[in-house]
Amino acid sequence: MDKFVIEGPTPLKGTIPISGSKNAALPLMAAAILGDSPTTITNVPKLRDIYTFNNVIRVTGCQVNFDEEQGTLAIDPKHLSHLEAPYELVRKMRASFYMLGALLGKFGQAKVSLPGGCAWGPRPVDLHLDGLREMGADIELEQGYVIASAPKRMEGGTFKLEPSSVGATVNLVLASVLRAEKFTIKNAAKEPDVVLLCKKLVEMGADIEGIGTHTLTIRAVDSLEGITVRNASDRIETGTFMIAGAMHPESEVTLTNVDVDDLGHFPKTFRKTGADMTIEDDTIRISAPEKISPTSVKTQIYPGFPTDLQAQWSTMMTQAAGKSSVTDTIYYDRFSYVPEVVRLGGDMEVKENTVHIEGKTQLKGASVMSTDLRASVSLVLAAMIAKGMSEVLRIYHLDRGYEDLEEKLRSVGAQISRVSQEAEAVTN
Ligand code: EPZ
Repeated sequence: MDKFVIEGPTPLKGTIPISGSKNAALPLMAAAILGDSPTTITNVPKLRDIYTFNNVIRVTGCQVNFDEEQGTLAIDPKHLSHLEAPYELVRKMRASFYMLGALLGKFGQAKVSLPGGCAWGPRPVDLHLDGLREMGADIELEQGYVIASAPKRMEGGTFKLEPSSVGATVNLVLASVLRAEKFTIKNAAKEPDVVLLCKKLVEMGADIEGIGTHTLTIRAVDSLEGITVRNASDRIETGTFMIAGAMHPESEVTLTNVDVDDLGHFPKTFRKTGADMTIEDDTIRISAPEKISPTSVKTQIYPGFPTDLQAQWSTMMTQAAGKSSVTDTIYYDRFSYVPEVVRLGGDMEVKENTVHIEGKTQLKGASVMSTDLRASVSLVLAAMIAKGMSEVLRIYHLDRGYEDLEEKLRSVGAQISRVSQEAEAVTN
């Protein structure tokens, strides 16, 4: 297992290009299965989760070609014949569960492993399954698998998501576009990832009303055609690097290839820290404030503060001049990074689903452990501002969601290098 060795504190100065979005690409890849002809997706990041999903889709018999240098992914569903997504792959990446909606939607049949939990606790799929039952599908659970079947035309109906769920919205849209007479999703997610999926399904020939709102109405069409689609830039990577650019008082970073419209209310909240931010087309310039103003936040569904930036924000607040709190209303226990930042000297305490932070503290280098994707990157942010040497262990979590992270950070002055444990074992 690899680790990062990071020397701090260092200011960040320079330009970072934003990569394609993992969470926007995955639904588009699942949608490609619904087409009768090949789909090409551009701006796809070289990430573990993309490779994993490529393999999940290949298991069905689809042809998947990923030109990593171009970031172009071609999916040809012509030879799709195996209507299954196996546990050994689904357990690696929860979004593989999108295969349920895609296979059921296209073929009326699917056998898909239930996803595991993840580092911060259970992540249920009850809304996915209840929504499919409401639509008219037959859903059985057998030995950790969902066995689903549906007639050529399900009657459809109306299903309210409580709470609103990105994954359930994706799965219900994928299952209904070819197979539900009329299906309405209330309290549907309207994250940019979902809006992009729905817009591209319409380009493929689907009939979806209410795109960009919390009520989606889908009417089945007989077939869909493959398309060429540009994947969105990663809005969570953008927010992560905006935060990175505000943590050291001398930092000045420019982010390029940004989809600014996908950032929701985040820029407005970010400005409250005192950071100087200018937005021009697909470029954001950040100059760190002399002093970070403590800014408390509560995560919300889009366009509110994203839960995927919660850990990064809390870490930045260790450098703010005063008290602040960060509440996660989406995941109540997504705080596994807190004890690790405390090891670096952070003054933080978790009470129920809120972390209370006292700044400004001078963080000091230490060895810390990654536990999940977003927690890991918050440890990298902390280590870059900490005094002395830090090690961030188990960075395979990071490789799931941040493309070329150490190269991007090194290019703006961070003292960060990747050490593979095997290499270390050899030298000891
Ligand atoms: C997506 O996960 C993202 N993953 C997550 O990003 C993100 O944190 C999450 O949305 C929230 O924005 C991808 O897009 C691949 P949800 P998803 O269903 O779809 C509850 C990352 O770091 N719920 O919107 O699994 C659930 O427990 C990842 O890139 C049910 O109760 O999230 C949570 O409290 C981590 N029953 C809330 O809904 C269900 O059937 C929102 O979850 C489904 C969800």
